[in-house]
Formats: sequence, C-alpha cells, structure tokens
Amino acid sequence: MEILKYTHSGLRWVVLALLIGAIINAITGKSRTYEKKDKMLNLFAMVFLHIQLLLGLVLYFTSENVVFKAGWMKVEKFRFYGMEHILMMVIAIVLVTIGRKKAENHTEPAKKFKTITLWYTIALLIIIAAIPWPFREALGGKWF
Ligand code: HEM
Repeated sequence: MEILKYTHSGLRWVVLALLIGAIINAITGKSRTYEKKDKMLNLFAMVFLHIQLLLGLVLYFTSENVVFKAGWMKVEKFRFYGMEHILMMVIAIVLVTIGRKKAENHTEPAKKFKTITLWYTIALLIIIAAIPWPFREALGGKWF
C-alpha cells in the first residue's frame, strides 16, 4: 500500500492547486461569461477530490495509523487518522460537490462564480486544516 500512500500524499498538491485555481478564477471571473473552461476547472477540482476520497478509503482500511484498539482516541496520531482527517475531508468534499452542483444550476454567470467562490473557499480552509503537515510532528506526515 506504499504506492497508494505516496499517491495520496502527492495528490494533495494537485488538489490544493486546482482548488486555489478554481477560487481565483471564480473571484476574477465575476463580470464575464461562464465558459467551458470555467466549468472544466471547477469539475477537475471536484474530480481530484473524489480520487483522494477513494484512495483515502483504501488507506483507511490498510493504514497502520488507523487502529481502533482501546484508548486509540487518546493517541493524537490515531485520533487524527482514525477520525479527524476522514471526517473533515469528507465534509470538505461534500461541500465542493454541493457547491459545484448549485453553481451549475444557476443561469447567471455572476451567481455561478459567486457560488463557487463561497463553497470552494470554505472547503479549501477545512482541507488545509485537515492535512497532516510535517510541522504537526505527532502525525508523522511528509511534504510529498
Ligand atoms: C482532500 C482530501 C484529502 C487530502 C488532501 C489528503 C491528504 C493526505 C495527506 C497529505 C496524508 C499524509 C501522507 C503522508 O505524509 O505520508 C494523508 C494520509 C492519510 N489519509 Fe488523506 N487526504 C484526503 C482525504 C482523505 C480521506 C477522505 C480519507 C479516508 C477516507 C483519507 C485517509 C487517509 C489515511 C488513512 C492516511 C494515513 C496513511 C498512512 O500514513 O498510512 N484521506 N492524507
């Protein structure tokens, strides 16, 4: 499962880049028309999040950092991977999925851009908070 772990870890940068790209595009796009490329950017951000979800689910059942033996909640690392990481990431992925659907359902371009800005930004903040960054030493995460 090492390969899955490295893929999941590296893809965080793709996810972050796509989300930030979609948000900047939505903020700066306010007063123009909503084109295919806007739709594609928002879609790709969501698709890569869903890929992370699938990889994460496999890791969840194979990782040595997810253990449910007595007292696991008292161990920061186990609590993080067993509960905090999955819970926050799933919430963020749901927000992006709902937000994108809402944006696609609007007819006015300005409303589409505004909806993406709002929902994607909230999701991005949650994701940044739920990544096991290396400076959170107890979690044993890496930069890539
Ligand atoms: C936006 C979505 C997600 C991002 C950006 C993300 C990012 C990461 C990162 C950076 C790591 C650390 C890898 C390392 O440094 O070695 C990690 C580990 C992990 N993630 Fe996620 N993750 C996401 C969603 C999920 C979801 C939804 C689940 C569960 C369903 C999940 C389960 C795991 C598990 C179990 C590990 C620990 C792997 C191990 O060390 O054995 N992740 N994730």
